Amino acid sequence: ASRTPLVAGNWKMHFDHLEATYFVQKLAWLLRDAHFDYKRCEVALMPSFTSLRSVQVLVEADRLPIRYGAQSVSVTTQGAFTGDVSADMIAALGCSYVIVGHSERRKYHPEDDANIVDQVRAVLAAGMQPILCVGESFEERRQGIELDFAVGQVHDVTRDLSSDQAAKLIIAYEPVWAIGTGMVATPESAQDAAKAIRDDLAATFSRDIADGVRILYGGSVSSKNAVELIGEPDVDGFLIGGAALNADELAKIARMT
Ligand code: G3H
Repeated sequence: ASRTPLVAGNWKMHFDHLEATYFVQKLAWLLRDAHFDYKRCEVALMPSFTSLRSVQVLVEADRLPIRYGAQSVSVTTQGAFTGDVSADMIAALGCSYVIVGHSERRKYHPEDDANIVDQVRAVLAAGMQPILCVGESFEERRQGIELDFAVGQVHDVTRDLSSDQAAKLIIAYEPVWAIGTGMVATPESAQDAAKAIRDDLAATFSRDIADGVRILYGGSVSSKNAVELIGEPDVDGFLIGGAALNADELAKIARMT
């Protein structure tokens, strides 16, 4: 399968709009200096809502090939939902992606499976691609049920989608114990999870659809471990937290991917 790798930086709650603009400029310079081929590997950033408009203005003015998206979305289209942001509002800012179901959202907000399915649907309906995050905690890994757990989280969403919708998904396998801890999954276990998820997509939809879906790895990715991880056949790129706060490091990882 010829899947274009994706290197996506999830900034979480870091950077105001000025810092975000400065970062995007610096990243673009670094990649231009390195003659980076954005057709070979896609690069995307997920800033806070407050930075999206500034990033859009810069990307459009300088015609940068960098993509961007949001970290979460409301499941409703409009109305009396103070503090929420709709998928159409996000799409209007030129976003390509929205992260859905990140473990931090599942933990700190009432985001259950039903809500996550609705977010996926809202993102797709607005013409963007969801980056659906799944992954086991340390406890499930200790019990040896990590693959069933991650596949189950994907399946809980995909069973309610059509083939056309599933084909537009991007999945990020992010073991919770690896997020922000410096404990990266081994390439073998990232591959095992990505393959198990892909096989489940094939069983639910078709081999063709499964082979087209990009499956990213996330959790303590850095320029020290990216090469080995991307060497695995079912790992199609990265969702990066900490290392995506440093433009040199992110550019390095993109060049390795
Ligand atoms: O969305 C990104 C992940 O939570 C990974 O974060 O690279 O800091 O471990 P991390």
